[in-house]
Amino acid sequence: MDRFPTEFEDMLTAAGRRVLAGRSPLCGALAEPRRRFLAETGLVSERLARAAARLLDRALHELLQPLQQPIPPESIWEMTRNYGELLPKTARVRTAYLERRRELAQRRAEEIGLVAMLRSESFAAFAAALAGRALRRRWGIQLLCYGPGDYAGPHNDHHPEEPDARGGYFDLHVSLCGRGVAQQWLVYAVQGHFSRIADVATAGGVTAYRLPLWHYTTPLVAKARARPEEARRWLLLGTFLYRQPPVFTDVSRAAAGTRKLNQ
Ligand SMILES: [Fe+2]
Repeated sequence: MDRFPTEFEDMLTAAGRRVLAGRSPLCGALAEPRRRFLAETGLVSERLARAAARLLDRALHELLQPLQQPIPPESIWEMTRNYGELLPKTARVRTAYLERRRELAQRRAEEIGLVAMLRSESFAAFAAALAGRALRRRWGIQLLCYGPGDYAGPHNDHHPEEPDARGGYFDLHVSLCGRGVAQQWLVYAVQGHFSRIADVATAGGVTAYRLPLWHYTTPLVAKARARPEEARRWLLLGTFLYRQPPVFTDVSRAAAGTRKLNQ
């Protein structure tokens, strides 16, 4: 592969196309009230996913920017109470900002057809099918790359400062692993506990999120003697707002109100 297909549909298997056609049990899966996360393989062609990972290795790896948010030392040394630890979002990963037109990575991503595929009608339609809701016409796109030891610490992707996103929004991710990746996991919370885990060391695995949701990504582990360019997990991301934003309930204010009533 020396170019991504123009339409995301062309990366899909027969099962993936059934999602697009509205003939899959996965359609509307994330509209179920209790379900906020989905991890599926077999929707994107594994062969094309491997080829896409190799294309990204060749075309984009050298242009990625590091994204590092380490654990702040004061999160330990400025603690004043036992068990009072608070951890901000931590991460180490590389990224290409596909929406910053002046950046070389963005231009390269356009040249290899990645931007067009992530902007294609079938990419948005696939997201909408899993979300089970109408999505807005404009959506965000991004490219991440996890190498050995790269991870994302616990975070929830809540954006309360953005009026259109604070009631929730939808993310669609496609994993493109090289053959040198031994493991990487996505851990997410159900009913207040980090109790579920999904394998994301896949070539063509799809994960979808009804955000906000507490989750984290474990450090990527490479296979012994793997070549560096094979021990990577590329991640294609689309971030979608709902056409009708869910009602945002300010829990803290509601709780404060309840407290007042109870006094
Ligand atoms: Fe996240």
